[in-house]
Amino acid sequence: MASQQSDRNEIERLDREYTLGTWTRQRDFDPTEIVDTEGPRIVTANGDSILDFSSQYVCTSLGYDAERVVDAIAEQASNVPYVAPGWSTEPRARLSKKLAEITPGSLKKTFYSTSGTEANEAAFKIARAYTGKYKILSRYRSYHGATAASLSASGDPRRVAQGPEIQPEVPGMVKGPDPYAYGSSLDPDQSLEYIEEMLQLEGDTVAAVLVEPLVGSNGVLTPPDDYLVRLQEIAHDHGALLICDEVMTGFGRTGEWFASELYDAEPDIITMAKGLTGSYQPLAATTVSEEIAEFFEDNLLNQGHTFAGHPTACAAGVAAIETYEQEGLVENAREIGEYLTSELDALAERHPSVGERRGVGLHQGLELTRSEMERVPFEERSDKVSGRTTVLDEVSAHALDNDVYFYTSVNTIVVTPPLTISETEVDEAVAALEEALEVSDAAMDA
Ligand SMILES: Cc1ncc(COP(=O)(O)O)c(C=O)c1O
Repeated sequence: MASQQSDRNEIERLDREYTLGTWTRQRDFDPTEIVDTEGPRIVTANGDSILDFSSQYVCTSLGYDAERVVDAIAEQASNVPYVAPGWSTEPRARLSKKLAEITPGSLKKTFYSTSGTEANEAAFKIARAYTGKYKILSRYRSYHGATAASLSASGDPRRVAQGPEIQPEVPGMVKGPDPYAYGSSLDPDQSLEYIEEMLQLEGDTVAAVLVEPLVGSNGVLTPPDDYLVRLQEIAHDHGALLICDEVMTGFGRTGEWFASELYDAEPDIITMAKGLTGSYQPLAATTVSEEIAEFFEDNLLNQGHTFAGHPTACAAGVAAIETYEQEGLVENAREIGEYLTSELDALAERHPSVGERRGVGLHQGLELTRSEMERVPFEERSDKVSGRTTVLDEVSAHALDNDVYFYTSVNTIVVTPPLTISETEVDEAVAALEEALEVSDAAMDA
């Protein structure tokens, strides 16, 4: 769907000329103009209506027809569009209370920012202040954000691709292995033992263990059911907090409000963004336990932003949560997620290039392989930043030719539709994927 140089319209030309595209060499930045949206679909300037099975960056969880959210933003903007974080507003107070109610365990107070990146940065500062220790232990197959500390905490290939802007990396970020039975030389149990040994050997220096409960943009990695609770115990045994980065998995994506609940864990801190407002406004949150909140009664919380707790964004957050609740979207993610899972499993049976389906609810991925007998990826981790067109890009492009959009990440086709999705739309997407996977089947080793 990317427009060719010759047929770019005026907006695409202007955008191309005056905007720096994200995460790309600028010669590859060639965005297609979107002029309209409807339900789970985006509409291009030349009239193509595309079923979005990625929810953009796994964030438009409410689809595009959440009128309650639109109205809440408009009303707030006409009453109190902005005041600095030192003042109180109704939407922030109501949102904070609501987050205390829907997050697991004793999570109670929330610090606001505007991106998942900042939510994690705040979590690091909070964990360091609270524990008096400085290291953050995260994992290799992870993404936690774009700025120096959050990218240093990420194992994502984008960290190693960095030049002088973050080299040397922020000190104190140590990385352990992932629960990735399909693609790692360690099985998930061994990976956990490895992390335990790391915590012992790092001595009493680790402030927090930071994980995505169900890894997103590094390949949709689903841990064993008892993994997160065991990790939490191990972290606590070594005096470290557990921070769950639920920027992608929060707000119903896995069929629970938070993926931590799926695995019965009660993190000390949860970070969130994306689905918090269904992406109708940029808003992120770092919610901490009552105990951590109490610590800051007498200790300085040395963090803040001009737009922290922005009233229109918080109004969108309250209305988004009401929409999830009133339209039963978390339940829908669970139910349609089961249907999607069975359809994807059937696809995997029919297509030899699908090595493994992973995921829960509407957080799904298909990892591809060149070989029917073993895991031989089409796309290496380094391809996330190489600019090379991979077989996965071709699969995704084929689906897009049939007006269904999937994003791909580290050898995995990511399947993460909005939570509003219906069975008919799943059928439409699966049919497009069925055809597109013929491209990868044909590219397999003989
Ligand atoms: C798990 C996770 N954490 C953090 C981030 C960073 O969020 P943002 O892009 O809003 O800064 C992302 C973004 O994709 C993410 O998936």
